[in-house]
Amino acid sequence: MVKIAPSLLSSDFSNLSAEVKKLEQGGADLLHFDVMDGCFVPNLTFGSQFIKSVRNVTSLPFDVHLMINEPDNKIDWFSAAGADIITVHAEACNNLRETLHRIRHLGCKSAVSLKPKTPLSAIEGLYDDLDMVLVMSVEPGFGGQKFMEDQLSKVSQLKQIIGSRNIDIEIDGGINLQTAPMAVQAGANILVAGTAVFKDGKYRENITSLHQAIGEK
Ligand code: DX5
Ligand code: ZN
Repeated sequence: MVKIAPSLLSSDFSNLSAEVKKLEQGGADLLHFDVMDGCFVPNLTFGSQFIKSVRNVTSLPFDVHLMINEPDNKIDWFSAAGADIITVHAEACNNLRETLHRIRHLGCKSAVSLKPKTPLSAIEGLYDDLDMVLVMSVEPGFGGQKFMEDQLSKVSQLKQIIGSRNIDIEIDGGINLQTAPMAVQAGANILVAGTAVFKDGKYRENITSLHQAIGEK
């Protein structure tokens, strides 16, 4: 089954615990947290304290997407806050292998994200150190952008390289009822969705529709 990871970036922060409960009841598989530092990306969101507060209200796995420069000395904050998967950006790390080891050492799943212009060669030789690869299908920074179809070939190449290894392929940005089937067809097995889940407040219906669009449920 393909997993749906709603991005809390699109949620109502003033009503967070109710939002999270509604997502849980609506069939979310993971919660995706977009951490932005205002430097690596031109937007600023929240940090580990925010994530920690959500940890108290749900047992859903936490998928933490760090869009921050030099994440190494901050990874332990996010692990302590309850992250299950920690994703760093290849473009933001000086020694990616070391960073991935650090994430695993803290007991989390290790993942790397690639911006649309970053080629797969950025993670060459690192597949043994990875539990997931996150392919960005928009320029990171904001929700509600248009899906970049040219990223689908990256996903299918990645799928081929991964072969029988136990590595998830997540895609993030512009996922909706039209683009989800393309992403899954190319090889993605975890879909991040902001706008598509939150647009009208009907989380359960929207998550179900995404599953149906890709031929599930
Ligand atoms: C963009 C974030 C995404 C974004 C997805 O930088 O990483 O997670 O919130 O939002 P939608 O689904 O609206 O493109
Ligand atoms: Zn994200």
